[in-house]
Amino acid sequence: MATAKRKHIVAGNWKMNKSYDEGRDLVKSIVENLQNTDVMVILCPPFIHLYNAHAKTNDMANLFIGAQNCHQEVSGAYTGEVSAEMVKSTGASFVILGHSERRAYYNETDELIGQKVKAALANGLQPIFCCGELLEVREAGKHEKLVEEQVKKALFDLDEVDIKKVVIAYEPVWAIGTGKTASPEQAQEMHHHIRQLVDKKYGKAVAEGMSILYGGSVKPANAKEIFAQPDVDGGLIGGASLKSADFLAIVDSF
Ligand code: 13P
Repeated sequence: MATAKRKHIVAGNWKMNKSYDEGRDLVKSIVENLQNTDVMVILCPPFIHLYNAHAKTNDMANLFIGAQNCHQEVSGAYTGEVSAEMVKSTGASFVILGHSERRAYYNETDELIGQKVKAALANGLQPIFCCGELLEVREAGKHEKLVEEQVKKALFDLDEVDIKKVVIAYEPVWAIGTGKTASPEQAQEMHHHIRQLVDKKYGKAVAEGMSILYGGSVKPANAKEIFAQPDVDGGLIGGASLKSADFLAIVDSF
């Protein structure tokens, strides 16, 4: 089990799912059924739900709201985009950045993701920074090197105050939405590697305090085994976050 020093986190990435009414119902069901827990629960719905989700969960000590993206610029003529400041103004506390779907479909580079991380932090949002390798990279044995580059390029020019606000999510791309989970050993190995990188750059206290989440086909049936790894501090949940019972069962896995 991960050490008590670190926050256990279960975050739900709804991706592009749920109409306004459906999202409101899902938030309601999670609020009504969430047991008293030490786990930090973060709901990351599409932008249209942020304000309502925050309003309905504002008085809950362990439930926070996050967006799935923000723009790197402060404001201006960027049709269709949403700034970090605008996300923050809804009451959200977190923002997922660097998700593999944004890297793949919207050509987000490590450099751009680094800019978004800074925009988020400058506006009081905590980044949930995603990293992870494609299957061919793992098969070529280059997964640790690739994740190392992703982490270093997007995060390692932050100062010590800011790096402490970052949550890292390791999401092997081959495990996202495929039903294939990384084995608990594969997850542990990469999480340990990431923590060592943070240790080398920022020191032991920062590394030991950082929550590192695993994402990729986490379900109620496999969450316990994955969360039991010493360097796995929780999960970033896609598909299984869309049903209140499944999501809450994953929260209960701690
Ligand atoms: P799934 O849980 O659906 O595999 O998605 C994981 C993910 O991408 C969370 O950000």
